[in-house]
Amino acid sequence: MDSRRLAYLKALEIDVWERRDGSARVSAPQAEAAPAPVAPVIPIRATPEPVIQARAVPTPPSIEGDPSVAALGWDELATAVRSCTKCPLHATRTNGVFGVGDRRARWMIVGEAPGADEDKQGEPFVGRAGQLLNAMLKSVGLAREQVFIANILKSRPPNNRDPKPEEVRACIPYLYRQIELVNPALILCVGRIAAQTLLEVDTPIGKLRGTVHRIAANRPMVVTYHPAYLLRSPVEKRKSWADLLLAMRTFETLQSGATA
Ligand code: URA
Repeated sequence: MDSRRLAYLKALEIDVWERRDGSARVSAPQAEAAPAPVAPVIPIRATPEPVIQARAVPTPPSIEGDPSVAALGWDELATAVRSCTKCPLHATRTNGVFGVGDRRARWMIVGEAPGADEDKQGEPFVGRAGQLLNAMLKSVGLAREQVFIANILKSRPPNNRDPKPEEVRACIPYLYRQIELVNPALILCVGRIAAQTLLEVDTPIGKLRGTVHRIAANRPMVVTYHPAYLLRSPVEKRKSWADLLLAMRTFETLQSGATA
């Protein structure tokens, strides 16, 4: 394992042991209160080839058909988000949080909604969860600036409550237009709310992980835990690491197919 990835896994607080033969094993820290005496261990080299189960999920008509958004370019879209009054959240937000990163990124990260820090700064994932997201990206060799990061909702729900269906309906055309404009090769969806919203299912996140889904004109999407959840449940970081490997290998597989 190269030393850079080793350093980032350590930053994720995923313990790594190198064997004499050069192979490595990782484990995540136990949750503070967990009584488990033995750290769970997963062999890195045993990561299976990505199963690209093309379960096509058509873009629902409810989110395709907003002509006021569908034709906007980057600057107009950013202005529309920052001045949006389509749902009542505009009355309580400080900033509409558009999204950040490389507008031609190959990876796009989709989260749920801005929290207090994001609302204040007008940028997604800048709080503690954002720092962990940055470390997760680094563990697969990506800098924050190399991806595009956006949320389902562009305005903060008060007290960080879950988004309401009518808020999602009002806001999600912005995200779909962002996906179209970025045209990413891969979407990494973080958290239950984002995953269930994009896939239009109620399936628990544990069952949505481990599969390459297809959304928004058949683009591959991998689901993992939300970094805020991982901060509360660090024992799940090893699963998140497996998800990141799935995302990376899916990306590499698709790239090699595209260039073959
Ligand atoms: N959580 C999210 O889902 N998005 C953010 O931007 C911040 C926290």
